Amino acid sequence: MTLLIYGAYGYTGELVAEEAVDRGLDVVVAGRNEVRTDHLAARLGVPGRGFDVGAADDHLDDIDVCLNCAGPFVETYEPLVEACLETGTHYLDITGELSVFEAIAERDREAEKAGVCLLPGVGFDVVPTDCLAGHLHDRLPEADELRLGFDPSGTISKGTLASVIEHADAGGKVRRGGRIVDVPTAHARRQIDFGRGERNAVTVPWGDVSTAYYTTGIENIETYTAVPPLVGSAMKLSRFAAPLFGLPPVKEALQTLARTFVDGPSERQREEGACYVWGEATDGETTVTSRVKTPETYALTVDAATTAAERILADAPTGFETPAAAFGPEFVLALDGVEGFFDE
Ligand SMILES: NC(=O)c1ccc[n+]([C@@H]2O[C@H](COP(=O)([O-])OP(=O)(O)OC[C@H]3O[C@@H](n4cnc5c(N)ncnc54)[C@H](OP(=O)(O)O)[C@@H]3O)[C@@H](O)[C@H]2O)c1
Repeated sequence: MTLLIYGAYGYTGELVAEEAVDRGLDVVVAGRNEVRTDHLAARLGVPGRGFDVGAADDHLDDIDVCLNCAGPFVETYEPLVEACLETGTHYLDITGELSVFEAIAERDREAEKAGVCLLPGVGFDVVPTDCLAGHLHDRLPEADELRLGFDPSGTISKGTLASVIEHADAGGKVRRGGRIVDVPTAHARRQIDFGRGERNAVTVPWGDVSTAYYTTGIENIETYTAVPPLVGSAMKLSRFAAPLFGLPPVKEALQTLARTFVDGPSERQREEGACYVWGEATDGETTVTSRVKTPETYALTVDAATTAAERILADAPTGFETPAAAFGPEFVLALDGVEGFFDE
């Protein structure tokens, strides 16, 4: 059973490829730059394939699972999903992009028909929050409101920043009555104890606004992140700048800056960092709260993505899946260094 990792010479893709090879999986590394792909393939001692996403259907016939690590995913998911449906290959990615989750969810029937699993979001976005959502739903099956959030530590990679810039003009999003609706950036603010005391938190359009609905069926969902109070105010002010981010020259200039000047977390930062993840569900009368503590977000992403790929290689459901729907809410607890669920 063969796993192809696309975007394998990117910051996260390379860490995932190293981990997959360490675990003894049958790995092919791939990416659009042939030279960088071949270089990585030679270093890891595995086959390499250089191709653009548009040519993916010529390269997946002998592949069982394709794990896409090339983001912004809005630019890569579609041709790879198409090629996977055509060649009967299971598709996984590490997106956190809400619009990408929604677009892939719409391919559910086609995936069922093709006998293919479409499982986006097997990184820090959205494994811990999605598993927490599933766990909270198990605790309070009548819940009709769900709030999820995280208090991260550490720095981000150039690819993550490029993905944030890509969607910076999209504003805020929440789910109400089952539908995703637009709200202003950072529209709600509250104090949340993510697991290390109360923090200032604001709403962000996290992928769970899409995925937690498919995992739990809960129709009202908000997602929060911890921010210093000044950042919360700046995010509110940024509403007025949001249309500017939608202008192609502004977006391109920021993407270039991100790719030139940002480095991902060092090995030490990955080893020492931690992240606190919180969720609450309510039916209007009863409210239940649960938390998990995870390793640093990129460390968790590498473990979660590789473990998800291993499990799909062994036994794959068909159709669109979320991590907690595919593997159960306990999936996150099987990952290295994760502590929880801490229930209230
Ligand atoms: N789920 C999570 O928690 C999580 C965690 C980590 C990262 N991510 C996401 O994963 C993505 C990659 O992050 P990273 O840190 O690895 O970034 P990175 O170091 O910039 O790597 C990005 C990779 O994607 C490739 N790529 C980008 N656009 C492409 C396109 N249109 N066609 C083909 N290949 C393309 C790049 O190839 P070139 O160098 O040739 O452009 C590179 O190999 C980001 O979107 C990030 O937000 C998610």
